[in-house]
Amino acid sequence: MTKKIQAPRGTYDVLPSLADERARLEHTAAKLLGAAGYGRIETPTFEATHLFSRTVGEATDVVQKEMYTLQDGSGDSLTLRPEGTAPVVRAYLEHGLHKEPQPVKLWYLSQFFRYERPQAGRFRQFWQIGVEAIGSADPAVDAEVILLLAELLEAIGARDVHLVLASLGQPESRAAYREELIAYLRANEDQLSREVIDRIDLNPLRAFDAKHEPTQRVMAKAPRLIDRLPQEDLDHFAEVQDLLRASDLSYTVDTTLVRGLDYYTRTLFEFQSGALEAAQNTLGGGGRYDGLAEAIGGPPTPGIGWAAGVERMLMASTQPPPVELPVELYVAYEPGHKEAAFRLAADARRAGHTARLELAGRSLKGQLKQASRTRARYVAIFGDEGVQLRDRDGGEDKLVAPESVMHHIRGQI
Ligand code: HAM
Repeated sequence: MTKKIQAPRGTYDVLPSLADERARLEHTAAKLLGAAGYGRIETPTFEATHLFSRTVGEATDVVQKEMYTLQDGSGDSLTLRPEGTAPVVRAYLEHGLHKEPQPVKLWYLSQFFRYERPQAGRFRQFWQIGVEAIGSADPAVDAEVILLLAELLEAIGARDVHLVLASLGQPESRAAYREELIAYLRANEDQLSREVIDRIDLNPLRAFDAKHEPTQRVMAKAPRLIDRLPQEDLDHFAEVQDLLRASDLSYTVDTTLVRGLDYYTRTLFEFQSGALEAAQNTLGGGGRYDGLAEAIGGPPTPGIGWAAGVERMLMASTQPPPVELPVELYVAYEPGHKEAAFRLAADARRAGHTARLELAGRSLKGQLKQASRTRARYVAIFGDEGVQLRDRDGGEDKLVAPESVMHHIRGQI
């Protein structure tokens, strides 16, 4: 027998029961973000590869190991988008959105691709809801986007949610700090894990993320970026925090928060959930990326945003089960009456009713069993004597003319 072909590892099918749940999440997000003035944007599924290598960063895991990159027929290198921020900023620049009142506020619900080790809450094709507010460096924008994600998570009933904040400052102070950290890591190299040593020059900040205990001990005493930030950045961060406190949002500041993307400047944040396993407990995260537009050839343009994983949000939330639309009319038929039955089901749907027709060639008995399974209010049975109309809500069976079925049920349902 031919081997069964299955979906690629780390991907999944959205069957109807899952689709309903996702549709409700989408509806909640659309309402909340729309009310805050965010317009929906969709960018292509693939982009020029260097859009990501220049912004997400050559040294990141995403660019080094996780991109699905292909060469197309004309020899161009294209990549299935691993994230949405660089594409949205590209679109902002390409369409001259800087001419609109700033900041331009956009949101998306799209699928992304990363070659990661599949596990609960980690997929190779996954979905994100994200927002990007581009064109203003005002701390109020930072506070607004953070608050929006908090509100979305609350609206979907995400459990045990906790906000973590940090500030990264600007590239200049970060570069000086980076040198200081590299020197510190080199001085303590004998206690660090092989993996951290191999990446000291490439990405020293990742050492804060290490699971290796001796490395963690070294990192506990390592210099902290927050202690090296210039006053301007500290003031910006303080204002973001003031605004969050003014909206009663609780958070903790974690000066070692590291995110896997290189474009961040200043505010950085993550919403974690205790309802998910520690390795994948981040429901969503984001931050400022004031240098991203320049990195892809645009003018200096501040921006901030976040993205939250659809799968993780659903896993962590307690949305009530979907309300199924009740079936109003089930149309059954005896042999020879299929066409008339088909027509009635179509007419009923056109008139705005939920109607089902027998589609699998069952016997009349089988059809009636199906009708009661769907819990349809009315069952119309086409036969030689006409149409027997049954009101399953307790009424009598009536024999009616085929063309009068709609007349009989109208006004009742
Ligand atoms: P990110 O932290 O890479 O940020 O991803 C955001 C969220 O997407 C994660 O917190 C997680 O919920 C979900 N996610 C990421 N990778 C996977 C995966 N393999 N499987 C399932 N879910 C996943 C970004 O992507 C940035 N673009 C966010 C941003 C927007 N920053 C500024 N603006």
